[in-house]
Amino acid sequence: MNAAREVAPYAGPDGRTAEELHELADGLGIAVWTPEPGPPAGRWKRIVRAARESPRGKLPPRYATDTWHVPFQPRLEAALRPGMRILDVGAGARPMVAPADRPAGVTYVGFDVDGEELRKAPPGSYDEMVVGDLTIREPALVGRFDLVLSWLTMEHVKPVPDALRNLRSYLAEDGRFLGYLAGGRSMHAVLNRIVPHRLAKPIMQRLWGRVPDTVFRAHYDHCWYDALREVTDDAWSTAEVIPLFTGGWYLQWSPLLRAPYLAYEEWAVTGDRRNLAPYYLIDAVT
Ligand SMILES: C[S@@+](CC[C@H](N)C(=O)[O-])C[C@H]1O[C@@H](n2cnc3c(N)ncnc32)[C@H](O)[C@@H]1O
Repeated sequence: MNAAREVAPYAGPDGRTAEELHELADGLGIAVWTPEPGPPAGRWKRIVRAARESPRGKLPPRYATDTWHVPFQPRLEAALRPGMRILDVGAGARPMVAPADRPAGVTYVGFDVDGEELRKAPPGSYDEMVVGDLTIREPALVGRFDLVLSWLTMEHVKPVPDALRNLRSYLAEDGRFLGYLAGGRSMHAVLNRIVPHRLAKPIMQRLWGRVPDTVFRAHYDHCWYDALREVTDDAWSTAEVIPLFTGGWYLQWSPLLRAPYLAYEEWAVTGDRRNLAPYYLIDAVT
């Protein structure tokens, strides 16, 4: 059986105690509010609470379970095996799995459209570097890998269906794809489209401390739930697409401005508006 299926299914904050949620939040350096004991709060109560808790420095409970690596890391750890062949796409200057964290005998290939980015990675990051476009099939990669990783790359690629089909072809039998990408219908994706790229760089540097050459143009092609579902169902035998509503990180610098955003995000979560998620995790098996 593929290791993919050995990981507990995604459950978000549900079923976790307040202590567990606070402990996870502490580990991320954030504070979350937790639901009152008793019957679950209604939708509007949750929306109001999300806004009211923001100026107090608190985020909704799902931020403890759905942030960045928390849903991704256990899947990645379960997937790693000695001797496996890993392709990290859009790996750029930072491989998803550092050499020290790789099991013995792993072959780790970095793939990126920009060779300069790959060469910026710390020495020893990649056993092999491949410069290429994800949307164009590389015959030399077909059937070569047990695991393909993609971290914050798919939103920069167009067309995404071609890229995902190519990634599928690079996997051997029973291979697995783990991807994490930014959603195209979130608040920051909409702003990213409106603000010209040359202005986005200094803004992101000022508000989020991002180094300008780590800001890449994003297309967000097919980067919403229904589109990803359709493409992954088409390309893979089993695929999970998990919407993650954690866009409040972008507004950490202003808890006051974050309040209406969190109310809006709570509205989206409680209404199951999956197409509006700021992030998606894809876990797919050939
Ligand atoms: C935001 S960076 C992510 C880099 C790395 N995964 C990380 O987490 O730091 C996006 C990367 O995707 C690469 N990229 C963009 N379009 C691509 C394409 N069509 N094919 C392959 N790589 C691409 C960029 O050059 C860049 O290195």
